[in-house]
Amino acid sequence: MRSISSITVNEVDFHICGGVDPKTGLKACSGKCPYCYVDMVKKSNPVFKELPVFGDKATLMQAIRNIRKTARPKDFVFVGGDPCEHDNLMELIKLAKGLGMNVAVLSNTHVYKMDGRVIPIEWVTPFVDELAFTLHGIGDRHDSVNGNIGAYRNGMWQLKKFMSARGTTDKAVSILMNFVPYTMRHLEEMMIGAIEELQMDPERDYFAIQRIAPTGLAKNDYERWKVRRDLLPGALRTLKDIRERLGFETKLDTIDVFPWCSIPEEYHDMLHEGGCQWGQPNGVLSVVQDGGIQRCALSERTIGSFLEIDTREKFTRFMLDNPTLRAFREHRHLEDRCLRCEYLDRCGGGCVIAVGGEDGDPYAVDGGVVCTGRDYLAL
Ligand SMILES: C[S@@+](CC[C@H](N)C(=O)[O-])C[C@H]1O[C@@H](n2cnc3c(N)ncnc32)[C@H](O)[C@@H]1O
Ligand code: SF4
Ligand code: SF4
Repeated sequence: MRSISSITVNEVDFHICGGVDPKTGLKACSGKCPYCYVDMVKKSNPVFKELPVFGDKATLMQAIRNIRKTARPKDFVFVGGDPCEHDNLMELIKLAKGLGMNVAVLSNTHVYKMDGRVIPIEWVTPFVDELAFTLHGIGDRHDSVNGNIGAYRNGMWQLKKFMSARGTTDKAVSILMNFVPYTMRHLEEMMIGAIEELQMDPERDYFAIQRIAPTGLAKNDYERWKVRRDLLPGALRTLKDIRERLGFETKLDTIDVFPWCSIPEEYHDMLHEGGCQWGQPNGVLSVVQDGGIQRCALSERTIGSFLEIDTREKFTRFMLDNPTLRAFREHRHLEDRCLRCEYLDRCGGGCVIAVGGEDGDPYAVDGGVVCTGRDYLAL
């Protein structure tokens, strides 16, 4: 039996700056990506939150301390919105690093601030282990998806300065790409473009793939953003080819998993054994700016708070007893066919949110009946 204080997670993604400042009306991300899970209008995802004190530093710092003390993640990722919109991201980064965690930042700008003033990225470099950037295309194509002229050029410029400041350390750059139809068709051009532009190093830098889930804005027009099965074989071939030719790894499902039956066997080595890691012991948790916990960043409800969880015992109890986490571990959202499948232990039934179809997260309704089904990509 597990001891009451033995559960930890591997990674926490902290979604700071999710909402709109009620005083100034400023949106906490300069991006306007059409499928973003942060829906500023419907505000369905708790990543969006209007709080009395926007991005309150004391609250964020308390949450970071409690996360470190109770969940003990190895990796701590700042995300948003754009986490760089926070006036004091530098201080938060230093705190997380000082507490002994590996720090990563996923931003569409990588322009950092300290006490509200922009600082050189070289000041930040010693305190971060990884910078992640979501690439939507090369040049103008990236700008048009992100909704900002110059987003590509400026983002690349910041990453280049980081890469030159990192010297021979093992600090990494990761390039995230969403498997929307355009990206699946233009993978080679995008990957080679990023490798050449940034002079990426296969020993340290890597790519990662995400699926757009039916949550937030993506729900409005999901047919447009979902993974197309007919484009999968070609896209997987490109990822493998780039690994074999140039040595760059692509993490296929660290974030949004793929059903094992949707991926030909020759690519199974790119899949994570055990399926979706969000909300699992030794897995990943998502936290929003008031300390609220989501099983996964794409879930549409919070299920606890790191302002209240302040001991190892409370955290372990939360992981063991929380009804959403239990239902998820027991695969209560899966239909019979997956429950009887020989791959279930390795696959986990694909993406939980994609099981809810266009309605999104099957666990989003408080006290409601969990809807069942299977990931639309499953055969
Ligand atoms: C919400 S963004 C926040 C960080 C930063 N602003 C960025 O765009 O990289 C985090 C990641 O989630 C991805 N994303 C956005 N909407 C999504 C959705 N509906 N489902 C899955 N991933 C999504 C983005 O492309 C990005 O890679
Ligand atoms: S995906 Fe990122 S950059 Fe785009 S709108 Fe959402 S938070 Fe902003
Ligand atoms: S568990 Fe379900 S999704 Fe996974 S391989 Fe089996 S049938 Fe496919």
